[in-house]
Amino acid sequence: MPSLRTSVAIIGAGPAGLMLSHLLASAGVASCVLERSSRAHVEERVRAGVLEQGSVDALCAAGVGERLLRERLVHHGIELRFGGASHRIDFDALVPGRSVSVYGQREVVRDLIHAREAAGAIDRRELWFEAPAVAVEGLDGPRPVVTFSHAGEAQLLEADWVVGCDGFHGIARRAMPEAVQRVFERVYPFAWLGILAEVPPSTQELIYAAHERGFALHSLRSPTLSRFYLQVPAREELGAWSDERIWAELRRRLETVPSWTLASGPIVERSVAALRSFVVEPMRHGRLLLAGDAAHIVPATGAKGLNLALHDVGLCSRALLAWYGSGATERLDAYSSTCLERVWRVQQFSSWMTGLLHVEPAATPFDWRVQLAQLEYVASSRAAGTVIAENYVGLAPSS
Ligand code: FAD
Ligand code: PHB
Repeated sequence: MPSLRTSVAIIGAGPAGLMLSHLLASAGVASCVLERSSRAHVEERVRAGVLEQGSVDALCAAGVGERLLRERLVHHGIELRFGGASHRIDFDALVPGRSVSVYGQREVVRDLIHAREAAGAIDRRELWFEAPAVAVEGLDGPRPVVTFSHAGEAQLLEADWVVGCDGFHGIARRAMPEAVQRVFERVYPFAWLGILAEVPPSTQELIYAAHERGFALHSLRSPTLSRFYLQVPAREELGAWSDERIWAELRRRLETVPSWTLASGPIVERSVAALRSFVVEPMRHGRLLLAGDAAHIVPATGAKGLNLALHDVGLCSRALLAWYGSGATERLDAYSSTCLERVWRVQQFSSWMTGLLHVEPAATPFDWRVQLAQLEYVASSRAAGTVIAENYVGLAPSS
């Protein structure tokens, strides 16, 4: 079987894997990224849209923030819409000087791939597409090995370290012995139907709408592209939703305040995503480290998954660079617990926001009234509004 060697084997070319390989390369440490899907698929995939200031800072510090700074939409608040009224969570008033940036995950991924390509990573075969990893072995020794396949041929990649950045459905987490893993999980009884539409946004800021028929979100991508989500039952079939039905349901849940109307347009992408809270502990076993969705999933309501993934790889790169620099193991030993501290804070915020804004299938009219009372409280109390603002713009990064 053909065999390659590198310093750090990275499984997955999502934002976590790409950013990690870029950070390592910038400091002179070689890595090899194996991605299961094609480059076109990875560059087209529509997912997250909201970047915390800390994520923007990290991308800029890594030298991949030029287009981001030019094209992002900076937001200083979000709108909560319920009970026939709009309530603004005003970041300038509640968390002065802090904001979020609307810039699609697809753009972050494209920027990172272009940076790796410009540095010669694709030519040097340090970034592989259509190369699924199938096994990880030797985690207890000094030279772990990843088996992957490419163009129908099995190959081996030997490394000092393996980092699993292969998302929730990846294989890296499964390479950790079951006896050392602890899994924490909540699967929600509803999902999100997401669409991308060629229509100028009908709003300047994101609208999070709580409605008796279910949650709706109006997000943005650019002055001509809008992103929307609808709460739908878990395991909903996309085929059940015609364009007309999607726009009618968005209008029902969003056109609830006087003289506000929703503009519609051609739908250019659609998908249904499950809502899940998931954590595996620890995030390191021997020579394997996990980062991003491979180790944890948050329901998308708090807009945190991508931000958490970037935070993990910041810590991961510093830990690996310390080891390559001087052999120091302190950061590697602390990696899992340092990441998990933030992961659990973000889990709390994301599940709380999800409960605040969604309707449980078994909810009674009583439950709905209690939920409205909670929303009223959040909208009218400066303390409660600050809790949302502080968490939404992002906690201070760990050093
Ligand atoms: P991924 O992006 O999942 O990347 C993993 C990569 O590994 C993939 O490219 C996959 O093909 C590859 N892979 C898997 N298995 C293998 C294998 N065996 N071999 C090789 N490669 C493999 N987050 C936010 O911060 N803000 C938001 O606004 C937000 N909105 C969201 C909206 C939706 C609808 C969804 C679904 C998610 C949203 N998220 C949001 C979450 C965010 O998209 C994820 O947290 C983020 O993609 C995690 O990045 P990652 O690199 O860890 O994993
Ligand atoms: C998005 O624009 O995709 C988005 C925005 C906010 C969220 C989730 C997703 O909470």
